[in-house]
Parts: sequence; C-alpha cells; structure tokens
Amino acid sequence: MTTELSPIDKAKYVAAKRAAGFVDKGMRVGLGTGSTAAWLVRCLGERVKDEGLRFRGVPTSTRTAELAKSVGIDVITLDEARWLDVTIDGADEFDGELNLIKGGGGALLQEKIVATASDQMIVIADAAKEVETLGAFPLPVEVIPFGWQTTQALIEEMLISMDVMGRNSALRMNGETPFITDEGNYILDLNLGRIGDARQMAMVLNQMPGVVENGIFVDICDTVIIGFSDGRVETRDINEGSVSEDRIDVEDGDNLFSDLGD
Ligand code: A5P
Repeated sequence: MTTELSPIDKAKYVAAKRAAGFVDKGMRVGLGTGSTAAWLVRCLGERVKDEGLRFRGVPTSTRTAELAKSVGIDVITLDEARWLDVTIDGADEFDGELNLIKGGGGALLQEKIVATASDQMIVIADAAKEVETLGAFPLPVEVIPFGWQTTQALIEEMLISMDVMGRNSALRMNGETPFITDEGNYILDLNLGRIGDARQMAMVLNQMPGVVENGIFVDICDTVIIGFSDGRVETRDINEGSVSEDRIDVEDGDNLFSDLGD
C-alpha cells in the first residue's frame, strides 16, 4: 500500500533523487544526516539494488550508517577512504553564496569533517531553506560538556561585539537530559536572528576553548540542488556560476520510503 507523499517530502525526494545521479561506480561518497539526506541514502540504495551500482559511502552519523547498511551500501570510515569524491548532505539554511547553517540534526562535527575532505559538496534542500542572510535558524555549536555553562556565558558575551540581532542560547535537550552528539558532546543553539558576517562568526566561535565546532559552513558547499513539491529541481553550481532546471516525475511506485525516519 502506498500513501501520498506530503509536499515537503516530495520536494526533498526529488532533490535527493537528482543528487543520487551524481554518484558513479567506484566513488567514495560522504553521506549526510537528516531527513533530506535520508531520502538520498534510500535513493542510492535503489540504485544499488536496481543497477548493481557499487560505491563506498562514508556516513556522517550513526543514524546514517545504520540506514546506509540497511539499503545495501558499502560503508567505510573516513580514515579508510581518506579523501572523498563527493559529499551530499542537507542543510538548515543556505544563502546566495552557498554558505550554510547545518547541525539541526546534531551531526555538524562529522558533517563538516567529511564535507571538507571531499572534492565536492552538494547540498540537497527544499526551497524553504534558502535565505538572504543566515541566522533565522538557531546556530548549533558543539561544546565540550566540561564547563559548558561557562562556555555558554563566554559565547553570549562575545556576541555583544558581533553583528547579530539576538544573543540568547539554549542547551539542546533530548527530553529531560542534554542531547549528546556522536562524539559525546553537547549542542548549544544560538538564537542570533541574523548573522551579519558568517565567516567571522565561524572563526571567532572556533577560537573559544570549550567550542568543538560550529554549524556555519563557508566555502565548503559547491552545488545546491533545490527540490520543489511539483517535481521541479533547480541545480546551482557556485564554481561554474550555472543554474539549470529540470523535473522529476514522482510516481506512485516511488513512494517506497513511507517508513523513512530522520
Ligand atoms: C544534521 O546535523 C543537519 O546538518 C542536517 O543536514 C540539517 O539539519 C538538515 O536536516 P533536514 O534535511 O532534516 O532538514
């Protein structure tokens, strides 16, 4: 039995399906985390099953690793791969220069390490993720649990001198207890409203001793594939300065993923 995909899932699905076409035999591919990246992993699993496509995937979280293995993708570690041909991942926000906010799913550290070790990073997103200026989405910052409240206070103090609209932050929770990342750290979500200088913010945050990494990606993403609920797909390449558009028909039989989680 199939159920109709929601408009947002159709948008994510068509972006993911288009991106899955960028993977060729023998490639080493970084596999992102989140609901859009999960569509990608399933689409790649379909290619493994239908075409016998063989490639190796480097997951950016334990969640993605489990999903990738379950759909038949050969999973290896980043250190086994050493360098990747492409990483395909979602984003919480992207701007016109393809700067990103990532980490809504809490996997920003592995995501940034993997994307940085790739020849190309492709972001897949629905159109609602595009912004003029980053910052409406709370900026995730991964911090060491030791002294996290002191680190939080230092971050909020540092923000006084930055071009932002808000300075409040919150420890990310998982029910009654702090959310713990794959590396055993905490996440602080910074409610900045607007980040005037994303590059400066990323650099200043990473100079703070308790900060492990932040969710701003600058000069990492090369291509964004934007999916729309009517099946349209727009591909923008920042290096080539090109924009192309096409369409993917969503068939009833494409709705194989109704069990798909984040
Ligand atoms: C995971 O840590 C994130 O960086 C995700 O890539 C990001 O939150 C986008 O997730 P969705 O595709 O679920 O919106």
